Amino acid sequence: MKTQVVIIGAGPAGLLLGQLLHLAGIETVIIERQSQEYVLSRIRAGVLEQGTVNLLHEAGLGARLAKEGLVHHGFDLAFGTQILNINLHQLLGKEVTVYGQTEVTKDLANARSAAHLTTIYSAENVSITGFDSNHPKVQYQLAGKTHEIDCDFIAGCDGYHGVCRASIPQNAIKEYERVYPFGWLGILADTKPVQEELIYGNHPDGFYLCSMRSPTRSRYYLQCTLDDHVNHWSDERFWQTLQSRLPENLQAALETGPSIEKSIAPLRSFVAEPLRFGRLFLAGDAGHIVPPTGAKGLNLAVSDVRYLSWALMEYYQEKNESGIQHYSQRALARIWKAERFSWSLTNLMHQFPDMSGFEKKMQIAEFDFLMSSESAQRAIAENYVGLAY
Ligand code: FAD
Ligand code: DHB
Repeated sequence: MKTQVVIIGAGPAGLLLGQLLHLAGIETVIIERQSQEYVLSRIRAGVLEQGTVNLLHEAGLGARLAKEGLVHHGFDLAFGTQILNINLHQLLGKEVTVYGQTEVTKDLANARSAAHLTTIYSAENVSITGFDSNHPKVQYQLAGKTHEIDCDFIAGCDGYHGVCRASIPQNAIKEYERVYPFGWLGILADTKPVQEELIYGNHPDGFYLCSMRSPTRSRYYLQCTLDDHVNHWSDERFWQTLQSRLPENLQAALETGPSIEKSIAPLRSFVAEPLRFGRLFLAGDAGHIVPPTGAKGLNLAVSDVRYLSWALMEYYQEKNESGIQHYSQRALARIWKAERFSWSLTNLMHQFPDMSGFEKKMQIAEFDFLMSSESAQRAIAENYVGLAY
């Protein structure tokens, strides 16, 4: 088989890149290791920046998003008993949209199958070669049979554990990493969200986040230890713990019910440089990870794809390689700023197990400063709604 661009991974980065390239008349094949059902059942991010929403509209995927997405004009930061509302609308005249990654992925997968584009799910032993030459190749197995695709470019959209970054020679890539000493335990439940806007909270017993998917579906997270396990968390224990961390005026309003999903995610900051090696590009989690505080993971994957689709369009439509040559540098400039924001909000909003008295005082002072400074609040708001492309 031969195509122009092979995309490895059918997560949001891979599917969106496929859709944007299709609209530009560029042929793609997507190779995914999991089944479609598995990909569509993963519960992950929930908050979309305006730039992400705009791009999804440009890609022809705005109909359900416009109908079902919840527009939020702000969110709360709670620190002990103090609560600070970051009013995105008042500070910047901007907003974010709550619409689950699961729904984004579903809309993208539906658009791809409606356009009869090739996506190979459940592909085994995916391998990539020749990307340091003009003849990259992708091999995979399906039902025991080996297949090979010749292409012009490979887009590595295969997440943190994918094959693409791992195929780059070690001396050609530098990795920067911070692993945090805690995880997030998340649950999804068909209960009314405790309030209309999100709350990110730092309680002496640990971080909590109150989020949602709809007016009748809540998504909540609690800071947990790295060796914790979902089996240790009955629904009852989860609700009791969350209630004990909530601001007092909200405790009685917490609606509880059976969880429909429960999972633990570790927290990590990670960046690989560069994001291009010959004719291989890394986009999304394949090239970088942020801790989820600040909701940047999915939005960053989308901004990489925006730069990469521009670069490939320039190559095919104008025979211009400049976008390809600058992809890594352009994407990384935005990535590092989102890494900084996610790292700093993670530091402010969590209880670190080995925090010294001095570090605790620094957290308190930072929150006090935020409470008193509109320009500090504006800086948080600016990052939260998404930096310019
Ligand atoms: P992914 O969504 O990881 O997609 C990569 C795809 O590649 C997957 O479908 C995978 O199966 C496939 N793949 C992997 N290896 C191969 C291979 N060898 N061959 C073929 N295909 C392969 N962000 C937030 O902002 N908020 C959150 O609450 C949040 N929660 C998260 C929870 C978890 C458990 C994880 C892992 C991430 C979470 N994120 C969250 C981050 C956010 O979901 C990601 O940033 C986003 O999914 C990135 O999209 P992506 O397409 O780059 O990668
Ligand atoms: C959600 C996840 C996040 O990491 C975040 O910062 C906000 C919301 C969510 O899953 O709803």
